[in-house]
Amino acid sequence: MAKQENLLVGLDIGTSKIACVVAETSPDGKIDVIGIGIHPSRGLRKGVVVNIESTVESIRLAVEEAELMAGVEINAVFVGIAGSHIRGYNSNGVVATKNGEVTKEDVERAIDAASAMAIPADQQTLHILPQEYIIDQQDGIREPVGMSGVRLEARVHMITGAVSSAQNIIKCCNRCDLDVTDMVLEQVASSEAVLSQDEKDIGVILIDIGGGTTDIAIFIDGAIRHTAVIPIGGDHLTNDLVIGLRTSAREADTLKKKYGSCMVEMVSPEDQVEVPSVGGRPPRPMPRQIMAQILEPRVQELFELVKGELQRSGYQELVAAGLVLTGGSSLLHGMIELAEETFDGLPVRIGRAKDVGGLADVVSSPVYATSVGLLLYGQRYRHQPNSQRKKMKKNGLWNRMRRWFGDAP
Ligand SMILES: Nc1ncnc2c1ncn2[C@@H]1O[C@H](COP(=O)(O)OP(=O)(O)OP(=O)(O)O)[C@@H](O)[C@H]1O
Ligand SMILES: [Mg+2]
Repeated sequence: MAKQENLLVGLDIGTSKIACVVAETSPDGKIDVIGIGIHPSRGLRKGVVVNIESTVESIRLAVEEAELMAGVEINAVFVGIAGSHIRGYNSNGVVATKNGEVTKEDVERAIDAASAMAIPADQQTLHILPQEYIIDQQDGIREPVGMSGVRLEARVHMITGAVSSAQNIIKCCNRCDLDVTDMVLEQVASSEAVLSQDEKDIGVILIDIGGGTTDIAIFIDGAIRHTAVIPIGGDHLTNDLVIGLRTSAREADTLKKKYGSCMVEMVSPEDQVEVPSVGGRPPRPMPRQIMAQILEPRVQELFELVKGELQRSGYQELVAAGLVLTGGSSLLHGMIELAEETFDGLPVRIGRAKDVGGLADVVSSPVYATSVGLLLYGQRYRHQPNSQRKKMKKNGLWNRMRRWFGDAP
């Protein structure tokens, strides 16, 4: 049986499903997935908990299932956070080095200076992600420690989220007897699982299309530069089908997954589907193209919003590695083709979790990108050198939470 200290658990509280993935780590850094629990999610809207009771119930069932499969007890989790309340900012901070050579402490001071910005009272910092360092006039430095220079500038991407949303997630986990080791922005987690270092270096846009939201992260020169959340996801596609096909939400979702497409021209005009009716009426045959005619404009609208976000970020010329689509809705037939068309021929691929063993086949579905990413993020955090970990702890979740609850030092 796996030892508690070797366990890593990712809990993805999504709008459509709650997924709990348990992994065992080995000393050489290998991660083996040993348990998975997945349960439909009922208490969220657009990535945010709106019903604690239902969310707690779904978390409990997903966690129990994962515990049973892995044969372990789960006490602590890395959990994801998402929603329209998330804000991302780029910021910089400058310090003078103490001895003409950059030390770890100088780097920490520069990051502190970069993150010392006024954020609204109802928001709290979730991540401070270093992008690059500039020493004197030299920019583009990733590892500044030990380099000579007198002026050190740190550039960081800061991510903040609503205090209340974070509190509700923690409340739900605590009600299931789970400690939250850390809370991670969902697209930051997904990017850990599905992007390669090369892609991040060349420039890439990650698009996690879930049920309630589409989460975006742009990486250039190896670092995260822009994050955004668009409150549209697969549920909107399902709802359009409910209205367009006059069937129930459950049937519409099943039909979407089985026969849906967002490219009318990729569907044969002869293909027919049986659409179950409501109110005991008999099912009706319908051309599959009608479904595609409903879905295509909605997905196009979503991609146009993503395109707008990319333009606003100012990085549209720099994402040479193109788009990586993940999340359950990336599986919709025609997604890659429509994305290529909308983004003027940029390369597009589906992002699946990599770098894990064990039940890797199961978790390679884009549905698990966030949960596996939470594990990988957790492993990285575990292997932080001690001083940095202490610092993270100092600025870490529990201190931040104590500040939110008003009993911080
Ligand atoms: N094969 C498929 N084809 C089309 N859509 C699919 C397929 N499989 C899943 N989906 C859709 O993906 C969505 C769920 O994706 P996912 O599990 O990534 O969402 P989530 O993480 O729960 O939500 P969010 O991240 O928005 O909070 C649902 O709308 C579902 O209908
Ligand atoms: Mg998700």
